[in-house]
Amino acid sequence: MNTLQTTTPARLMYLHMGSKEPQKQIDFYQHMMDMQCERFTDGSAVLRGPNRVVQISPADKHGLLAAAFQLGSKAQQAELRHQLEERGCSVQEITSPILEQGSFSIRDPQGRETIFGVANNHHRADLPGMPGRLQHVVFQTTELEDMVDFYVNTVGFTISDNVMDQETGKLMVCFLRSDDEHHSLAFFRGSKNEWDHHCYETNEWNDIRDWGDRFAKERISIFFGPGRHGPGNNLFFMVVDADRNRLEFSAELEMTTADQAPGNWPQSEYTLNSWGRAWIRS
Ligand SMILES: [Fe+2]
Repeated sequence: MNTLQTTTPARLMYLHMGSKEPQKQIDFYQHMMDMQCERFTDGSAVLRGPNRVVQISPADKHGLLAAAFQLGSKAQQAELRHQLEERGCSVQEITSPILEQGSFSIRDPQGRETIFGVANNHHRADLPGMPGRLQHVVFQTTELEDMVDFYVNTVGFTISDNVMDQETGKLMVCFLRSDDEHHSLAFFRGSKNEWDHHCYETNEWNDIRDWGDRFAKERISIFFGPGRHGPGNNLFFMVVDADRNRLEFSAELEMTTADQAPGNWPQSEYTLNSWGRAWIRS
């Protein structure tokens, strides 16, 4: 089967968040994440920083409305759409303030929306600010096997690593890639279906230090990390935004080749944070 990695490599490009208090969220992403705000008449705002974009819309509750992946060209956009339709996936054309015409969205069996498209002319990678490219998004799910099946066999993601419960043999976490980076998407088994976190990939460990200092200045404390994940081998820490959505800052994320077989890890604190204590989802 053609995969995203081999045929239409895709990178996480922007997140569309809903918020009950959008102004607080806009303030957070402007001031903490070095992003510039553009407002639209429908009440939504697009915030852009270096290699990172978020869209924030007023909503009844906070959370993620959609995750958008960028394709390399309109030809790849057409190719992926064709492949999804061939695999029986319903595709909806959308308009987005961030993407060219022809971008489209799909929904997974639990209703999560994923957008694919090509960046429009407003997108600039050279905006000023601290380094941190929007890189991956993670969810908790009550239906882990079904989600992995959909994202692998229908959408074309590739499994990079599985984390298994040693006693029950149950899959607990699955890390999925859409290009050469170890993961751009992951799912944790959980008792709820909620947005777990999203991540910004920095250039090096010193950037992690600088982000930590920035949050410290505002008395926003780290709730997980610093440490190093087993799967992906990346350095990390996590904080929350104004809506208490979880953000991760990372460095040294592993690169893969297309033929790399899935790895297997035991569900343990060492797997999720080889430096120390881990946040085990339940
Ligand atoms: Fe992560």
